[in-house]
Amino acid sequence: MDKIAILDFGGQYAHLIANRVRRLGVYSDIFDGEVAASELRDGGYKGVILSGGPQSVHADDSLKCDSAIFELGVPVLGLCYGHQLIAQTLGGKVENGKVREYGSAVVSLNENALKDGILAGLGGEEKVWMSHFDQVVSVPDGFEITAYTKDCPIAAMQNLDARIFGVQFHPEVTHTEHGMQILENFVRITGAAKEWSIDKFISAEIESIVRKVGDKKVFMMVSGGVDSTVAFALLEKALGSERVFGLFVDTGFLRKDERTQVAGIFKALGADNVRIEDASAEYFEALKEIYEPEEKRQIIGSKFLDIQRRVFSEMGLDSDEWILGQGTIYPDTIETGGTKHADKIKTHHNRVPEIQKMIEEGRVIEPISQLYKDEVREVGVRLGLPSEMVWRHPFPGPGLAVRCLCSGEEIHSDTSASSEFEKGLIDAVKFGSYDVKVLPIKSVGVQGDVRSYKHPAVFVSGMRDFEQLALASTTVTNGFPEVNRGLYLLSSTVVESVNLSKSYLTSERISVLQEADKVVMDFIKEKGIDREIWQFPTVLIPVSVNDKAGETIVLRPVESEEAMTANFYKMKWELLDELVEKLVALNGVSAVMYDITNKPPATIEWE
Ligand code: XMP
Repeated sequence: MDKIAILDFGGQYAHLIANRVRRLGVYSDIFDGEVAASELRDGGYKGVILSGGPQSVHADDSLKCDSAIFELGVPVLGLCYGHQLIAQTLGGKVENGKVREYGSAVVSLNENALKDGILAGLGGEEKVWMSHFDQVVSVPDGFEITAYTKDCPIAAMQNLDARIFGVQFHPEVTHTEHGMQILENFVRITGAAKEWSIDKFISAEIESIVRKVGDKKVFMMVSGGVDSTVAFALLEKALGSERVFGLFVDTGFLRKDERTQVAGIFKALGADNVRIEDASAEYFEALKEIYEPEEKRQIIGSKFLDIQRRVFSEMGLDSDEWILGQGTIYPDTIETGGTKHADKIKTHHNRVPEIQKMIEEGRVIEPISQLYKDEVREVGVRLGLPSEMVWRHPFPGPGLAVRCLCSGEEIHSDTSASSEFEKGLIDAVKFGSYDVKVLPIKSVGVQGDVRSYKHPAVFVSGMRDFEQLALASTTVTNGFPEVNRGLYLLSSTVVESVNLSKSYLTSERISVLQEADKVVMDFIKEKGIDREIWQFPTVLIPVSVNDKAGETIVLRPVESEEAMTANFYKMKWELLDELVEKLVALNGVSAVMYDITNKPPATIEWE
């Protein structure tokens, strides 16, 4: 089978490139960025793609590619860091960009680009996705500039004779409007034959499960979500239901009534080999005084394993006869820093150190770990799972625990007089006449492939226009290193005071969040917009506004395809007003805000 090699320099999207190339029907393999060119030549790869990465090409320990790759005679495409590497390796120049760009940008294409090469057939202006600090400032000999933006004069370059191409943006993410066409052009230039499909994946994976499991059985952690259910179904198909056993753990951080719903899902699938375990008291106890997001995640992930072990011994199972099954998908691995050069964005529950150790010992099977959500859904459809199941919104393993923010300190601030920092923000956001406040709490983000943990800025009053708000939010997250998220205050038009209270994970707080989450989920279903929203986290933050008792609810609906990038969803204002009215009427709700940040720079979940 013809194939293309992806060289991974630690970019958050390295694997996504492979997913895209496979979608175009060509099989692709991922290699460490520093792989020897001879290995690629011996493997007969028809083309090479260099991924993005979190480093600067100038850093002492920066990753380099083997320069002999450019002498293999196959087409090479560099994306972001890969584009900079091509420039640096072949004699061009890379410098620290004055403007950091994260998110949407419009590039202008030069005439020469439209005729031939990877940008052939595109328009004169193209909407693309950027996430970078450095940029190419002069091209190597033999190269020409093919695209530029105001802040990035060499957004793309090519050497048509040598068939080497570089782009500063990310064609592999869906937010680059014609990204697939760019990749398709590259695949065409490589001449690789299209011989790969999801059906081929299923049959190959079934064979691989049978081989890996041997004569053992699989003990599988299930959540009723898409990933673990598809993995469970695939394992059952390969091994038969008598060799697969499911354990569903109620952590106490589930959605309201979810335990009953999940039991219903497995009943409907005819799976009677699933046990349900209520461990909520144990979880609340273990997380009693914890507020730091990564610490929370570690404890939650390890607890899953403790419970699995306990159930195992209660059932009198022999650990030599069983291996652990998990519904891990690719973003879980990459965000945990699971490839050699990637930064750790957050520890996913199925990637805590104890599990990593079991993986190394060959005691874990993860049948869909190379797939993204869109591919998992496709596998689910092919396996005949019901469509309500396949199209459930994703829900994280740690559940509402990562949507219920905690704080180890108290801050009371009368914000009638803005701080210097906030005045700076207001000056930066000239349009829309928004007032801006910075909240005394932090959330997780991903900027230039690196984790960030920073404050949100909340926009108050001004124009109720999502285009303006998106612009304001991007201006602030690009221009102020202290901020990685933008919010819009929905429940009031002024902020006179903001109070942060000492708060931990308690069943009372989770109940408030469960009620709010139920209002939101019922509402989007009733209004028929649940399918156009990819995922809708409702978040509780221990902040009260204008001395109104209770905490703040943040609405975080997003559009995405595979969770590596996302756009915030722009709900109709009249619907939002109706929803806010329902939320402020709940006990324990002080204010309601709307998250107006894309990913990057903010992650979908707050922690
Ligand atoms: P972020 O917040 O990193 O989330 O943009 C990307 C996707 O991953 C989900 N997520 C998790 N899923 N275990 C999971 O099974 C986890 O620990 C976890 N953390 C985040 C998140 O809901 C989103 O769909």
